[in-house]
Amino acid sequence: MEKILVRLKSESYPIFLTREGLEDIGSVLRRMDRLERVTVITDSEVGKKYLEIVEKGFRVAGYQVDSLVIPAGEESKSLEQVTKIYDRLLELGVNRKGGLAALGGGVVGDVTGFVAATYLRGIDYIQIPTTVIAQVDSAIGGKTGVNLPQGKNLVGSFWHPRMVFCDVEVLKTLEQKEFVAGLAEVIKYGIIMDEKLFLYLESNLDRVLRKEEEALLYIVRRSTCDKAMVVEEDEREQTGKRTILNFGHTIGHALEASSRYREYRHGEAVAIGMVFAARLSEKLGYCKGPTVERIVSLIQRAGLPTQVPPLNEEDLFPIILVDKKVTAGRINFVIVEEIGKVRLEKIEPRLIGENFRK
Ligand SMILES: NC(=O)c1ccc[n+]([C@@H]2O[C@H](COP(=O)([O-])OP(=O)(O)OC[C@H]3O[C@@H](n4cnc5c(N)ncnc54)[C@H](O)[C@@H]3O)[C@@H](O)[C@H]2O)c1
Ligand SMILES: [Zn+2]
Repeated sequence: MEKILVRLKSESYPIFLTREGLEDIGSVLRRMDRLERVTVITDSEVGKKYLEIVEKGFRVAGYQVDSLVIPAGEESKSLEQVTKIYDRLLELGVNRKGGLAALGGGVVGDVTGFVAATYLRGIDYIQIPTTVIAQVDSAIGGKTGVNLPQGKNLVGSFWHPRMVFCDVEVLKTLEQKEFVAGLAEVIKYGIIMDEKLFLYLESNLDRVLRKEEEALLYIVRRSTCDKAMVVEEDEREQTGKRTILNFGHTIGHALEASSRYREYRHGEAVAIGMVFAARLSEKLGYCKGPTVERIVSLIQRAGLPTQVPPLNEEDLFPIILVDKKVTAGRINFVIVEEIGKVRLEKIEPRLIGENFRK
């Protein structure tokens, strides 16, 4: 089992990386030994597949275990769901010696983290991410939260887990489209900071798509290290370092929101956003044509969309402009220079509009 440390100012926590190690979860947590009981929170889909093995893993390590299953899907990232979880925790009599375990994708992770951050003014929790997005992105970095009817992730808190436990084996049961959408974030790390990862993907994409364990371990290892590094430098999104993680997300978010989150998976929208950002970078003279071609080609080979849809800029603009990535009317945009190297530029909104029009 590999261990990657996330070194924060106040505390540090480990990310464990393994294959077929889910049943060891209890003994691994035991080594950190702070809790008496664990309440596992999972969703209806993940629960069917992995809850029993995780419950058993905790039990054999001597924990008192309870579980709570929420409906699968983004709708569960709501204050109503949070209230239901508080009710259940109170019923069970969970106090500060009890911790939560988030078993699932980003939805379960974000909700569980938020409950952990707020219940009894904060209790411990751990992340057991089961999607690519969760393993390489959402489980690391301490951002927790829920959606409001007015928009996504509008309520939340920074609350870091005690540990993250990634078993790449579980990715094998993930629907292929879901798996591929998650790869968009992996490709993103390659472009923004990790040329070696990008090169690996270029040479080994077929192995990744077949979900060979060595390949899964490689991409999750590199991506988690990359995300951890960025988080260490900008724990609370204050220094601006975390902004590079938004590469492809300005347009990506706008596409998701303008189609009311129905047309694209997050990763698919980000894929289109990355292609757009790469092309814009070339147009503005920051990078060369062959770099853009490599980016587009890898995204395409992964089976992700690259075509910017014929959208009206009037539909997208209001969404981009209320996005937090705007200051004084200019958009903070992540520009590519080379594979593995990006920079932040404040660009005129009209540059985005012009490129949508063509
Ligand atoms: N906190 C952060 O920093 C951060 C970062 C990125 C994304 N997010 C959030 O994450 C959420 C998206 O996460 P997601 O893409 O993991 O979606 P998700 O949690 O909805 O999972 C997607 C689907 O896959 C199923 N699933 C999960 N693991 C599985 C497995 N191993 N086998 C079979 N099915 C499985 C789930 O039941 C669900 O139906 C969004 O709400 C987003 O805002 C948060
Ligand atoms: Zn993303």
